[in-house]
Amino acid sequence: MSSHSSAWIEHRTSNILGEIRGSSVQIRVGAFDRKKMKALIFSDLHLNNPRWRSGPYVDTLFPEEDFDVLLLGGDNAEPSPNRENHYRLFDHLQRKIRCPIAFVAGNHDIWDSDPSHTAEELLFGVYPEMAMKMGVHYLETTNLDIKNWTIVGTYGHYDYSFPAVDDDRQKMKDVETGRLITFTESGKVKRERTYQDFLKINMGKTTNPDLCNKILDRFEMRVRHARGSLMTISHTLPDISFAGTSAEARSPYSGSKRLGEIIKTHWSAYHFCGHTHHYFNGKFGSVDAVNIGSGGDTFRYVILDTTSSKKIKTISCSMDNPPRDMRFSRE
Ligand SMILES: [Fe+2]
Repeated sequence: MSSHSSAWIEHRTSNILGEIRGSSVQIRVGAFDRKKMKALIFSDLHLNNPRWRSGPYVDTLFPEEDFDVLLLGGDNAEPSPNRENHYRLFDHLQRKIRCPIAFVAGNHDIWDSDPSHTAEELLFGVYPEMAMKMGVHYLETTNLDIKNWTIVGTYGHYDYSFPAVDDDRQKMKDVETGRLITFTESGKVKRERTYQDFLKINMGKTTNPDLCNKILDRFEMRVRHARGSLMTISHTLPDISFAGTSAEARSPYSGSKRLGEIIKTHWSAYHFCGHTHHYFNGKFGSVDAVNIGSGGDTFRYVILDTTSSKKIKTISCSMDNPPRDMRFSRE
């Protein structure tokens, strides 16, 4: 005779079989949801970017609650000699919050600075070392297990699988050479710019699609090895629907369809991203997805509470009346 309680049996049954309602069977992928997990998620802090005043917001508006983890979704700080801005950011955040801090990089985080590094060196050498030194968790190299959840993260990058805003006229050779061209109705060139990433990321001998594939090969492997319920975070977008309407956001430099396929295929319960500074909160397949969209006139962050009736809470702070600009310094 089984010694298991009816609650145990009910829990196992719902995990394995899903929930039977009438003739339909709904697999309850988020069965582990019952275990509480509360995460604070920032993205695009751009620390020490003169046009971004997230620094004082992080300092003054830090939520007075307990969290299981703080996640940073990339573009965490601007380039600086020896990545000093990044060290300062982690140092500061550790003083403000007691939970584990985990991060992915963003494209600004791999902009070259003194001393010179390629994107790969930064992603797979400099940031893992920084994480070790600072006692924070770098999701590009290892997953983070918290309670019954596994958090898997990646910078993402881009592979030109998203169309240019004017796909008919924008040629692949323009995309490959970092040119963003917009056209008038009559087909004349309205505006031509070069992506900052093209100028500032040291790609070494690799191409953007090759780097993206290498990053996503590793990400997919980590997703496959997730032990708990899957939660994912990236800097770049998993789908063009997460972007805003501007030509700059809806571009081949915004993300990768393969990233989206990975998180959908492996049933991520929640996905968070940033990069285009456009807010999006909705379903992506079965995934509850948010583009945090912080930047410009708004500093925005997300609180995920898996046991709350409203699981995803978004908090926006207007820049209409910002606190005096200030920069983090070592205390
Ligand atoms: Fe970005």
